[in-house]
Formats: sequence, structure tokens, C-alpha cells
Amino acid sequence: MGATSAEVKMAASIEVPKEIATMLYLTTSRLSDLDKDDFVVAELSGPATHLLKVPGKLIRPGLVFSSALMFKQELEKFVDLAMAIELLHTASLVHDDILDRDSVRRGVDAVHTKYGSDKAILAGDALIAKAIELASPYGGVVVKRAAEAAKNMCAGETLDIERQKSGRPMSLDEYKTIAELKTASLIATSTSVVADYIDDVSRNALYDIGFNIGMSFQIRDDIMNYAGTEALAKKPVGNDSIYSRPNIVSVFEQAGRPSPLKTAIKLNNYYVDGARALLQDVKSDMFERYLDFLSIA
Ligand code: IPE
Ligand code: IPE
Ligand code: MG
Repeated sequence: MGATSAEVKMAASIEVPKEIATMLYLTTSRLSDLDKDDFVVAELSGPATHLLKVPGKLIRPGLVFSSALMFKQELEKFVDLAMAIELLHTASLVHDDILDRDSVRRGVDAVHTKYGSDKAILAGDALIAKAIELASPYGGVVVKRAAEAAKNMCAGETLDIERQKSGRPMSLDEYKTIAELKTASLIATSTSVVADYIDDVSRNALYDIGFNIGMSFQIRDDIMNYAGTEALAKKPVGNDSIYSRPNIVSVFEQAGRPSPLKTAIKLNNYYVDGARALLQDVKSDMFERYLDFLSIA
């Protein structure tokens, strides 16, 4: 547990069992091995692979493997799929840093800082193309789900930047719509895509669990930006309020709520509890661990 401020206590990391840790290791090492053969020319593979050398928290691949474990599947069969989901996420970060004008990602230069925006745009596109290539052997349904999540991320980012430009305060409903589209959709895809692949009836329940996890994940990220430390967030904090970016705490501040940070923590825990309630039907110790990580005291 890492103390981030007098008011907020958040877990620093998720404890995963050995079999999942092994798969995450395999996923990151395969991602960091992608090179010119995957991206055609060295001029593109440099920017496309830049962030793949610095793994993030791997929440989405972790959730893919967690559901595969729940279904007693052979985990290694899903490494390419976990890579595909992580590549879609990485592409969104490459483009998001251009849109948000953030120069640091995962403690290193953002792709556009190092290679310029033109190459960073193309690198993000190439990462999406590589994700499609890796997901395609899992079949049409899986590729369709990944495509839906990617479209939702673009829609969420579009509303996000439009909101920032308008300068108007953001309502809670607008905030939720953006978080659903830009974050919860891909995380819900991560919890449900193995069920899509094996055509299991629990697919919708798993999507809803992931959706709640995703909402909490975005809210927690905002709370960390507002009240957390750079060491815990592993990225710059405090910039949402400096640049007036959508952040759940500011949404409550602007709405005149007396304790905006506490209200944000309550909303985070509301989604954690929502996922816990859904887990009554879909039993998964691994998902419980993710919820312990997301919960804020
Ligand atoms: C950052 O995602 C963007 C949000 C959805 C809040 P992560 O926090 O999963 O980023 P990495 O992969 O760990 O760097
Ligand atoms: C990251 O969003 C990109 C997506 C969720 C698609 P944010 O702008 O909220 O997250 P950080 O703070 O850059 O990681
Ligand atoms: Mg950003």
C-alpha cells in the first residue's frame, strides 16, 4: 500500500500469481522484440517500438490472462491476443501524448518528443495495424470486438479534446461518457475477449465487470493526477489541473461539491463495488485482486 497524500491511500501494484507473471513477462519480451521486420522500415520501427521497450502496468494483458485462467485455458495460447490489446492501448498513448502535449510517458520521452509528431502519428497507426495482424488468427468476432474498442477510444478522445477546447466546465455525465469510451471500453474488452473467443455465455457479465473496472481505473488515474505522487503514478502528476484537462476531481470542484476529492474517491469505490457485486456470479480470484488494487481508502 502506498500513501499518496494525507487523504488518499492507494495500492502501488497488483500481486499476480506466478503463472500470470510468467505470461506478462512473455508478453513484454515479445513486444520489446518487435522490430523492422514487423514495421517494414527502420524509420518507422524506431518510433513504433519506442514505448514497447518500457512496459507499463500491463493491466489489460493481465485481465486477458486472468479470464483465460478462470476458463482453465492454456494461457500461452493468448499471448498474441494480449499483445494485440496492449498494442491498441500503446497506440492510444502515443496519439494521446500528442493531443495532450505531454512530453514524458512511462518515465521516458513521449514518442513525439523523441521523433516528432509526424512520425508519432504514423507510429500509432502502425501499432494499430500490428494489433490487427496479431488478433486476426483468433477470428472475426475477436477482431470486431477489438475494432469496436479502438473506435470507442477515438470517440472518447475526440469528446475529450473538444471539451478541453470549449473551456466550459464538464458535467458529471459528460465525464462519464468520455471515460466509458476512452478507457472502460478497452478494459471491458480485455476482461471479455477470451469469453468471446471460446463463445462462453458469461461474456456479457465479464464485459460489465471490465466496464466497472475501467471506470474505476480512469477515476483512480485522475485522483492520482490530482493527489498522487509521480513515483506512484510513474508519470507526471498535477498536469490535469495546470492545463485544465478533464479530471473527475475538477468536475466535482466546478460543480461546487464541498469535498471534491472525497466525492471522487466515493465514485471510484462505487465502480469497484459494482464489479464486486457482478463477481458473485462470475467467480475469479484474479479479478478480486484487481479490485483490491483499484479500491481507495
Ligand atoms: C493510462 O493507462 C491511460 C488511462 C487509461 C488512464 P495506463 O495507466 O494503463 O498506462 P500504462 O500502460 O500503465 O503506462
Ligand atoms: C489516455 O488518457 C489515453 C486514453 C485513455 C485513450 P489520459 O490523457 O486521461 O491519460 P494520461 O494521463 O495521459 O495517461
Ligand atoms: Mg493524456
